[in-house]
Amino acid sequence: MDKLFLVSFLGLLIAACGVAGNMLDDNFNILGEAEDLGIAEDDVELFEIPSWTSERGGKVLVNVDSFGAVGDGVSDDTQAFRKAWETACSTPKSVFLVPPGRSYLVNATKFKGPCADKLVVQIDGTIVAPDEPKNWDPDLARLWLDFSKLHGVAFQGNGVIDGSGSKWWASSCKKNKSNPCRGAPTALTIDSSSSIKVKGLTIQNSQQMNFVISKSESVRVYEVRVSSPGDSPNTDGIHITGSTNVVLQDCKIGTGDDCISIVNASSAIKMKRIYCGPGHGVSIGSLGKDNSMGIVTKVVLDTAFLRETSNGVRIKTWQGGSGYVRGVRFENVRMEDVANPIIIDQFYCDSPTTCQNQTSAVQISQIMYRNISGTTKSEEAMKFACSDTVPCSNIVLNNVNLEKKDGTVETYCNSAQGFGYGVVHPSADCLSSHDKGSILIDQNENAELAEPTRDHIVHTEL
Ligand SMILES: *[C@@H]1O[C@H](CO)[C@@H](O)[C@H](O)[C@H]1NC(C)=O
Ligand SMILES: *[C@@H]1O[C@H](CO)[C@@H](O)[C@H](O)[C@H]1NC(C)=O
Ligand SMILES: *[C@@H]1O[C@H](CO)[C@@H](O)[C@H](O)[C@H]1NC(C)=O
Ligand SMILES: *[C@@H]1O[C@H](CO)[C@@H](O)[C@H](O)[C@H]1NC(C)=O
Ligand SMILES: *[C@@H]1O[C@H](CO)[C@@H](O)[C@H](O)[C@H]1NC(C)=O
Repeated sequence: MDKLFLVSFLGLLIAACGVAGNMLDDNFNILGEAEDLGIAEDDVELFEIPSWTSERGGKVLVNVDSFGAVGDGVSDDTQAFRKAWETACSTPKSVFLVPPGRSYLVNATKFKGPCADKLVVQIDGTIVAPDEPKNWDPDLARLWLDFSKLHGVAFQGNGVIDGSGSKWWASSCKKNKSNPCRGAPTALTIDSSSSIKVKGLTIQNSQQMNFVISKSESVRVYEVRVSSPGDSPNTDGIHITGSTNVVLQDCKIGTGDDCISIVNASSAIKMKRIYCGPGHGVSIGSLGKDNSMGIVTKVVLDTAFLRETSNGVRIKTWQGGSGYVRGVRFENVRMEDVANPIIIDQFYCDSPTTCQNQTSAVQISQIMYRNISGTTKSEEAMKFACSDTVPCSNIVLNNVNLEKKDGTVETYCNSAQGFGYGVVHPSADCLSSHDKGSILIDQNENAELAEPTRDHIVHTEL
């Protein structure tokens, strides 16, 4: 968007509201940042791969069946998959094929790169995990299908990755307090990789997290479905950690924990057209656990529908810790019967014992909510629960309208600074607009401030 229009619009808006002059600078900078989060969408060299069949001439098909896979859902196809991977990975232009119509039982496996050029992982059939936690390889306790060190690989097909998680869920300490709290495998992991495309797959019934993207860059996830029961513990849909330049688009996620969670060392994350429910919503965090450092910047959620989730758009940090969450925009979100539609929780405590307040915390600033509407289950449609010692700053709300079917709605604020404009319901007057010594006056930007005119407003797509 043209910065000039934005500035003009804000100039008029703020003049009209009679807000003090230096607020303008602040607001300009915040929105300028929110508009320009620097997430390029088409910068990944993503070799448009048509279905492998139409281009078979140039491709080398590596079918797991040719390596002895049985695909009856009972026989152990682990060795066949491992051998097929070795061949596919070392052969240029190969297609690692899991053919349709069968179900392959595969143990926890590391599928390691780097591989030869232009590898396609074509999953059309079903891959199932052994369902007994007792027999899981203890050396691979947290993973099932783990792909690492890949560059320029496409994962695609209409296949299903099924973690057979029910026994894992039953043995979780979230289900039964007498169980020990321990981690369980992630169904699909893409780790330490770059220029990766994942398209069309279904990931379901994971033992714990369904799909993790870690330490990777330039990842595109399109039309992926995640499906785990609403009461399955810690089964995050798509979890992003230590990764940059990630786009999730047209994904439908129903699960027992966050539909999407974005944690430490992640930046330039864009989510577009996301359906979430059941689940715990779209989250940044948790961050700052055990006094750790957490940094997440430049996150955009644009166009989402959340239905009967326990949270809508959430930022969660533990007391203690350091780092920051900065430059986030949640926009064009429709909520239906969501318990906490808009929430910042700096007192997050997912622990059997209570968490003490501390003086340090992960700092939260430059968070924008725009065009968010729908229904809330709780009275507190908006909650900005920020640390007394590390306040949230520059929270901006524009065109937010949240209603409760039978009753009133309100906004809770603790130590949260920001402002709203346009329709904001419930009112966010509890956001203090005084800038308590926090950041954000960039003098260089002042020179650009233009005279507001009507034309500019008309063309502004705020
Ligand atoms: C797969 O795991 C089972 C135990 O669940 C084990 O008996 C079997 O040997 C494993 N297969 C391979 C190829 O390691
Ligand atoms: C919880 O686990 C304990 C020990 O494994 C077991 O005795 C008990 O029946 C379980 N409770 C429920 C509600 O499943
Ligand atoms: C968070 O990421 C930073 C930067 O990569 C790293 O130094 C730090 O150890 C990470 N913190 C945690 C808790 O993993
Ligand atoms: C507001 O968000 C809703 C829900 O995503 C969308 O349908 C609508 O087009 C958006 N309105 C504007 C003005 O962008
Ligand atoms: C921590 O601080 C918040 C905000 O002041 C307060 O509401 C909460 O009760 C405190 N929690 C504890 C455990 O002291």
